[in-house]
Amino acid sequence: MLRRLHPDQPDSFAFTEDNRKWAEAQIRKYPEGRQASAIIPLLWRAQEQEGWLSRPAIEHVAGMLGLAYIRALEVATFYFMFQLQPVGSVAHVQICGTLSCMICGAEDLMAVCKDRIAARPHELSADGKFSWEEVECLGACANAPMAQIGKDYYEDLTPEILTGLLDRMAKGEVPAPGPQQGRFASEPASGLTSLPVEGEGNAANASVTLARDIGDTLKRIDGTEVPLVAPWIRHPADETVPDEHEAEEIAAEHPGPRPSKDVPADESGITEQEADAGSRAKPRSSSDPEGESKAVDVASTDESSAPGARVGESSDQPEREPERLDAPREGGADDLKRINGIGPQLESTLNELGFYHFDQIASWGSEEIAWVDNRVRFKGRITRDDWVGQARELSKA
Ligand code: FES
Repeated sequence: MLRRLHPDQPDSFAFTEDNRKWAEAQIRKYPEGRQASAIIPLLWRAQEQEGWLSRPAIEHVAGMLGLAYIRALEVATFYFMFQLQPVGSVAHVQICGTLSCMICGAEDLMAVCKDRIAARPHELSADGKFSWEEVECLGACANAPMAQIGKDYYEDLTPEILTGLLDRMAKGEVPAPGPQQGRFASEPASGLTSLPVEGEGNAANASVTLARDIGDTLKRIDGTEVPLVAPWIRHPADETVPDEHEAEEIAAEHPGPRPSKDVPADESGITEQEADAGSRAKPRSSSDPEGESKAVDVASTDESSAPGARVGESSDQPEREPERLDAPREGGADDLKRINGIGPQLESTLNELGFYHFDQIASWGSEEIAWVDNRVRFKGRITRDDWVGQARELSKA
């Protein structure tokens, strides 16, 4: 199936404050230079927030991860878990149409969807509450035919059962997921033959129990994810280091190894760790008369950062400040996003640092790379993605 962006797109996207914090916590889970791996949870959260995944949302996530937009688009268009068009306000029904489900009656389920929701997949029902589509195997083949609705699987379906589920959902109910014809899990429909069923005797299997415990709505957010913030993990470029109070709250909710209390503090009580994070994240000083000339962390290096000086103790690589510009040259800035690995966010950061043109980047040596590396998130990216080589090619064009 062709998966394309919807023709009607909103003007913009931004995470809510809570979701932004959640997204930043996800990013911090990954090792330095591997933050792009957070793309699926971030796209998923954007979809949960808006109901579907718009182009501005994909761009926003790409920007947060410093990815070229096309790379985020590739992910969003590959997986059918991402909805690229508005879906029903109550539920989007995904009917599995692969082998087991197909021979057990998936086509009859899709006939119900066509009759009760809309004639074609991805169309909204007349009341806007439902939409549906056929998807590939969802891995519950032993309970075929089945459908994923919201975050849950509804299994052992018949047309009548699916119709009843849709009726209940339309009334605002959240029917219990799982097998719908009395099976506990995926034991033989004709009865056990040898092995016992783990957990038998409980009211429902583990997955159904979890869904019930979480409760909420069909489109619930959160509840099953790992802790929002692992307080013992601190990203060196962390812009949102929890304060003492937040850290205590988080630690109380999610016991685990604690961050060291022994990080030395300077006279102002700021730890080296915090100072490092702050130097990267804080807005430029108020002494900047134009308030817009350089990136957020330039103040930490300015003239006192002599060529070859080392900054911080985390890197042995000497650094040298590259040639920077106050503004693009005549003719305007180059589109730095053409460099693989630079997305809108990184381009903006580079512009703030005074880099607007391919030939500027093409001129960087290892010491200049170290200087820039220390001022953008995702250290190591410049070398790994070979910005300099790419910029050389682009500057020739
Ligand atoms: S074939 Fe439908 S879940 Fe696998």
